[in-house]
Amino acid sequence: MTALPTIELTVFPDECDAFGHLNHAAVIALLERARWEGLSRGPGMDFFRRNGIAPVVRKVTADYRAPAYPGDVLRIETTVVHRGVTSWTLRHTAKRAADDAVIAEAEVVLVSVDGAGRPAPLPDDVARFLGPRTPSTHEARRVSVDGVELAVDVRGEGAPILFVHGFPFDRTMWRHQVAALSRWKRIAPDLRGAGDSGQPEGGYSMARYADDLIGVLDALGVRRTVVCGLSMGGYIIFELLRRYRDRVTAVVLCDTRAEADSADGRRNRDELIALAKDPGPAAVAERLLPRLIGRVTLAEQPEVVKHYREMAARISSAGMIGALRAMRDRPDSTSDLGQINVPALIVVGGEDQVTPPSVARELSKAIPGAELATIPAAGHLAPLEQPLATSRAIADFLERLS
Ligand code: MLT
Repeated sequence: MTALPTIELTVFPDECDAFGHLNHAAVIALLERARWEGLSRGPGMDFFRRNGIAPVVRKVTADYRAPAYPGDVLRIETTVVHRGVTSWTLRHTAKRAADDAVIAEAEVVLVSVDGAGRPAPLPDDVARFLGPRTPSTHEARRVSVDGVELAVDVRGEGAPILFVHGFPFDRTMWRHQVAALSRWKRIAPDLRGAGDSGQPEGGYSMARYADDLIGVLDALGVRRTVVCGLSMGGYIIFELLRRYRDRVTAVVLCDTRAEADSADGRRNRDELIALAKDPGPAAVAERLLPRLIGRVTLAEQPEVVKHYREMAARISSAGMIGALRAMRDRPDSTSDLGQINVPALIVVGGEDQVTPPSVARELSKAIPGAELATIPAAGHLAPLEQPLATSRAIADFLERLS
């Protein structure tokens, strides 16, 4: 990832609120100041104009982590976490220089526009400055396991973390975490039947998914790893712990549960299986949508809903039916929880209806020493709905491990 110059800025009294804290809107202005200051120290403030474009902010996501006060010097680090054809995404981390406390983190999506305000491809000089184009999330390595080709994103160096997606999703549900956890080797496969992986007609079970993941780790030469799974990904982690305990160094269990399906739950799976056969997978995705995505996200983040539909559309009927059967028939893992003897973090969206915070609390009490992080304003898909807060919870846990 390309790093832009780190800029130090002092907090002034007029940037603070009535309580003497740095105001949230002023933080955004300081980040913008840092961007311009970085430009002025590099290619010059007129860099974009010289190249015939203007940078327009399309989206800002901010996470305020600690108060800052007049006189504090903030050290603002900026990295390019995504570079596309017309847009790029910067991640800012503002730390207090005196004690290194993280004051705020933010992601800013910028678009290059021409004189008429239309999106324009990044000119060569600007593209070079921002660094290489981020590979599309669909360009993945291919690993053959048990005769099925699995697509795997592998990024970075460092201690490994394996991301296991839920249903009906694919590896792209982790794209923010894969971009953010830059000090780790991130491994995000599509499970069989999902995304760009092979979609065989049969042979789906939690055991098979777990064996596939071990096949991926073997192919990458990874012996032991942290494993982070969401929902069905969590069910697979329980299976991994039963079968391959020595390969797992720590677990992050997001929006998941240890119980098997109830009789009602199994009946519901059968209904969904019938729906996946006729009219097809899209009908399953639409049926599940209101329960999977949080209320706030549904109202305010249409791009998350769009991403959800795209992931679901990449699952074949066979893959969807296979996953539903595998979940319906999975064993209960509650009696295993007390024996989990690796560090564990439980993450849950505060509005998750499928595996609500009460379920996460029970899970965290049952696993010795487990930590719990609740992500506000997120439903079942916390990593996509609130990427900064979810990545931060995972990063903090990983930091404590190392
Ligand atoms: C998932 O997100 O993987 C599913 O909601 C899990 C389930 O249906 O049990």
